[in-house]
Amino acid sequence: MPTIKINDVELSVNPGTLVLDACRTVGIDIPHYCYHPALTPVATCRMCLVEIKGQPKLATSCTTTVPPAPKDNPEAVVMEVFTNTPAVADARAGVMEFLLMNHPLDCPICDQAGECKLQDYSYHYGSGDSRMAEVKRRYRYEDLGAKIVIDKNRCIHCTRCVRFTKEISGGYELTVAQRGSRLEVTTYTGKSLDQNPYAGNVVDLCPVGALTSRDFRFRKRVWYLKNTPSISRHSALGSPIWIDHEGNQIHRFRPRPLEGKETTHFISDAERYAYVHYNRQDGAPAPLLKGAPASLDAIREAFQAAGPVAVIGQGTFGCDTAQRLGDLAASEGLRYGSGDKTIPAVLPKYQTSEDGILNRRGFTERGYRFGALEELQAKVQKGEVKAVVLLHDAAFTSAKEAELLGQILKAAAFSLAFEVEASDLGRMATAWLPITSYAEESDFIVNHEGELRRYQKALQAPKGVRTLPAWVKELAAVPAAV
Ligand code: SF4
Ligand code: FES
Repeated sequence: MPTIKINDVELSVNPGTLVLDACRTVGIDIPHYCYHPALTPVATCRMCLVEIKGQPKLATSCTTTVPPAPKDNPEAVVMEVFTNTPAVADARAGVMEFLLMNHPLDCPICDQAGECKLQDYSYHYGSGDSRMAEVKRRYRYEDLGAKIVIDKNRCIHCTRCVRFTKEISGGYELTVAQRGSRLEVTTYTGKSLDQNPYAGNVVDLCPVGALTSRDFRFRKRVWYLKNTPSISRHSALGSPIWIDHEGNQIHRFRPRPLEGKETTHFISDAERYAYVHYNRQDGAPAPLLKGAPASLDAIREAFQAAGPVAVIGQGTFGCDTAQRLGDLAASEGLRYGSGDKTIPAVLPKYQTSEDGILNRRGFTERGYRFGALEELQAKVQKGEVKAVVLLHDAAFTSAKEAELLGQILKAAAFSLAFEVEASDLGRMATAWLPITSYAEESDFIVNHEGELRRYQKALQAPKGVRTLPAWVKELAAVPAAV
């Protein structure tokens, strides 16, 4: 591996490594706008300039690569980079002045305020001054369909959004038009981003507040939000996300890219906007027995008197939940898996599985058998299984599977359903208990590639709602002597 020096610190990196990435490995963050690890570098913003010994002009670190070591001297230092010289500082201040020339001073009403790279870099690298005496150019904000709003006044022409629709989502909806100070990001005539199932990513990619999400626009100042690491429940990918929440309400899901894992940079709009399902509208649902509110003691008594138990676990819940649910089964062979949602792969490079069941692998590793519900139905009809316990979320069950599950519940002498909110299927069970949503608990899953992914509790569950392991402990408890 060739050796390079960055501000007199020596390090060995693979030939072809971008200087910007090499700087990161020694803890030097180079300011940048147009560079993004998942997009082709274009070196348009000029914010990442560094000094390279022997080169007459400053170089863009997002496009300059480390050369290979000479064959006759593999130990030689092949490049000396400086990121803290007066020339670099001067260039950064100059670039900031250019970028801010037409940028409005509307931070107090801008959604990006608090996570804006213009604000951050202006503070760290800007001169604090402007020689712009002319009137700034003005545009009205425009809808790019129902999901995205563009405010071109704020755009710094980094073209990240344009490259995303060209290189990643492939719909070519965005382009740049005009020249010079009139340059603008716009859509090809008649196109909106509505047909793009990954459109929400342009908002994350925009380093300033030019592209905003209609869903989040003017709703919350970002500094009030708490960020909890989690995963998307949408598919067997278990895409890492941030849950941004405040006041026990989720305000948005955002991708949480993992180092070196390019597929984690983007999430689909279906995943992004799924957060609304995890905000409870009503208070705590009550435990039910035969359709009426009931005490835990009454449900426990009915459960313990029921006879041999089989469990049906939908593979969209965590591994700890799967394990504790499995403990209720009369034998290991009586653990059945459910959930049959599939997701067509729109972007096969990013969506590496069409399985819509998040933790199928984790459930399978814990002895759950998927595709065997008919076998359970036969056992219930023969009276070999008297009681069935169902862990269920209606969003991941097809009408066909729901019908089969309903027949199993009806045939069993006793049935118990665990759900976040009572569904038509859940109400068919003899007893029903409210469990925490995945945003209200911490657990982990094993995704379809065998990677363990954890998610953390973001919201407080209402009083009376418990995790499934907590309910299982209660159901197994010996009733107190009277
Ligand atoms: S809208 Fe945002 S992402 Fe697109 S070019 Fe302008 S600044 Fe860059
Ligand atoms: S990040 Fe290198 S020129 Fe924009």
